[in-house]
Amino acid sequence: MSLQKVIVTGGMGYIGSHTIVELINAGYHPIIIDNLSNSDRSVLEGLEAITGVKVPFEEIDLSDSKSTAQIFSKHADAIGVIHFAALKAVGESVEQPIRYYKNNIGSLVNVLEAMANLKIENFIFSSSCTVYGQPEKLPVTELSPTQPAISPYGNTKQVGEEIIRETCSTKSSELHTISLRYFNPIGAHNSALIGELPLGIPNNLLPYITQTAIGIREQLSVFGSDYNTPDGTAIRDYIHVVDLAEAHVVALTRLIQKQNKSNYEVFNLGTGQGNSVLEVIQSFEKTTGEKVNYKIVDRRPGDVEAVYADTTYAREELGWATKRNLDEMTASAWAWEKKLRG
Ligand code: NAD
Ligand code: UFG
Repeated sequence: MSLQKVIVTGGMGYIGSHTIVELINAGYHPIIIDNLSNSDRSVLEGLEAITGVKVPFEEIDLSDSKSTAQIFSKHADAIGVIHFAALKAVGESVEQPIRYYKNNIGSLVNVLEAMANLKIENFIFSSSCTVYGQPEKLPVTELSPTQPAISPYGNTKQVGEEIIRETCSTKSSELHTISLRYFNPIGAHNSALIGELPLGIPNNLLPYITQTAIGIREQLSVFGSDYNTPDGTAIRDYIHVVDLAEAHVVALTRLIQKQNKSNYEVFNLGTGQGNSVLEVIQSFEKTTGEKVNYKIVDRRPGDVEAVYADTTYAREELGWATKRNLDEMTASAWAWEKKLRG
């Protein structure tokens, strides 16, 4: 395997930190760029404990074009960039659209500009299944139509993909990109040394479940039980964050080895299986022996009823598929929560 330098923006975050581990496992040399706006410096200790490697870290705001150009020049020998850095709270983005566009779109444009100047060709972009909205047909393939975004956050993913597609299609561009559309990443590394670190009250289901079980939150609200699903609660495709991390290494290697079919490709990253909110709670209770205090409340505005991935293209073309099941996801999330509060 290669011993090549890879820039990982947002590498201190939830998905980024797990990807750092898998990059090191595969023989790459990751460099983290992050402004710690939604992460903590202590992640570096967890990464070192898992991998035995002191991962280089540059504390930079990528929405600042000057510092971005500077720091990229310092790492001009990088073989590729994995771009996780973004703000991701859907509700907050509705209240602060400018902050979201400036941060997410500004950073993306700065990174692409720095890459073009330095002729770094390989780029992996964190996109989301949110671009499909509520699909007419399930499971969702990469050819399913995208829907207009319902939040500024979702729009930064739509527009982000557009910006990259247009950049890749110019005659002079040497950029090769894979956009990865994540479904719902949950769980943590099996060492429980890294995991999700939500600041404040969690928006997402799993951190809310673990914080309720450990006593930080009084009660989980289950948003809606009148959906047209077998138990009435909404369905998502939950994917173990380590499976997701591994997909990034596969995608990057595909670009480095020039196995991509075109200079802009898109893959869904999910398990292909949909689970309801109640099924996730049941899995958590079964694997941990803890009870979750929950009540059913109204639907959350903007939520889709059901979405899960068609995984055929990722399996056949990327040669990647998930290995970990829902019980491993909920059990690892609990081990991490206990370690955090222990
Ligand atoms: P996260 O918040 O844990 O990680 C993002 C990291 O980016 C953080 O460490 C943050 O400090 C950093 N960052 C943000 N803005 C920055 C800037 N301007 N300069 C430098 N660093 C900056 O989020 P995550 O869950 O790991 O998500 C990673 C990516 O995946 C994001 O682009 C997110 O939109 C996308 N995504 C996440 C999910 C999910 O459910 N977690 C789903 C689909 C897509
Ligand atoms: N849910 C609850 N109670 C909670 C939190 C969530 O019942 O306290 C339910 C939601 O209604 C939904 C499911 O659990 O049915 C999953 O909700 P999440 O907030 O964990 O995830 P979403 O599917 O709503 O959104 C996630 C990311 C978004 C991203 C989207 C699509 O948070 O950033 O996936 O990729 F846009």
